[in-house]
Amino acid sequence: MEKWLSDDSRVLFEALVPSFTGPSRLDRMVGLAELMQGKGLLADAARLSRKVLAESRGQSLASQRARRLLGANIPDWHYSILQDQVRLEAYERAIRATVTPGSLVLDVGTGSGILAMMAARAGAGLVVACERDPAVAQVATKIVARNNLSDRIRIVACASSALRVGGELPRRAEVVISELFSATLLGESVLPTMAQARRELLTADAPAVPRRATIHVALVRAEKRFHKPVGMVAGFDLLDFNVLGPPFHVCGHASPEALLSDAAELFSLDLTGCDPVSDARASVELRVSRAGAAVGVLQWWEGELSEGVILSTAPGAPSTSWGQCFTPFDESLPVVAGQTVTVHGWHSSDQLAVWV
Ligand SMILES: C[S@@+](CC[C@H](N)C(=O)[O-])C[C@H]1O[C@@H](n2cnc3c(N)ncnc32)[C@H](O)[C@@H]1O
Repeated sequence: MEKWLSDDSRVLFEALVPSFTGPSRLDRMVGLAELMQGKGLLADAARLSRKVLAESRGQSLASQRARRLLGANIPDWHYSILQDQVRLEAYERAIRATVTPGSLVLDVGTGSGILAMMAARAGAGLVVACERDPAVAQVATKIVARNNLSDRIRIVACASSALRVGGELPRRAEVVISELFSATLLGESVLPTMAQARRELLTADAPAVPRRATIHVALVRAEKRFHKPVGMVAGFDLLDFNVLGPPFHVCGHASPEALLSDAAELFSLDLTGCDPVSDARASVELRVSRAGAAVGVLQWWEGELSEGVILSTAPGAPSTSWGQCFTPFDESLPVVAGQTVTVHGWHSSDQLAVWV
């Protein structure tokens, strides 16, 4: 019997597998994988899909369906972040500066395993790398093996909250690395994730990569990349439709010329998990630097990965795979140089809002 199936899937598999013979074998297997996926048996669906791919010779409908299943819940950004040289170089520098020879490193959210492999290259004795998406964790295991690092990197397919010291981690980890940055900074729950890791999985003084981040705001004039509120459409007034729109959107990279005010730091956040995670409010005065019609607030972050190693998503900084966030005003605001405009902000453990 196939050893890799979970108990639930095994029952399903044993009942159906004898009929998987002949030319339709792969189609039936992928059909079963789709059924498993529908039942939430994601790890088994992924393994079965990979088996279909391994047995397929060339492309076929079964192999296309298997690939679709494997990638079903995998966000596209995995591919852009792996080609973001600014991000990778900053992380490699910070990891080299932080990981001490022989240390036990915890990598939270390993994805492809790239940061874990950087930590191993920097001299870590063992990297325990967790990934909550089982399909991604399976591929990371394969990647680590292909790079001959299986003896120093342990990929664990679970959320960091499920890791145990004395279980997957032989002792509390001496360094923690992660890349849980969203465009708003907080959307991937970096604050509560690091707090839990600090409490349960790390030594008290374990350094973290990244260790701090700041959130910045400035007023901006209209640019094509900023969505305009809906107004007259085909001669009809659709203004009311705007109430359903999100309060902000990720707008790519605004040009520095779009800024109508100086930038100001709205929040400074500890990412080591040492500070208690709580909601916070702040207000900053933005000094208008040039006259124009301000259409909203642009927001971005700067992460301090290790001392002096800064990863920035600011307008004008080397372009990364993250965009900035744009919060539109209901109506544009005419501003003149020297005037000040107050911007307010609030954040929870994983959300951020700004308004004037
Ligand atoms: C932005 S990706 C970064 C992947 C990789 N570390 C890199 O730098 O390329 C974040 C990954 O972390 C995983 N993840 C997020 N929170 C997690 C958690 N608490 N425990 C385990 N995995 C997590 C996501 O599934 C995703 O694959």
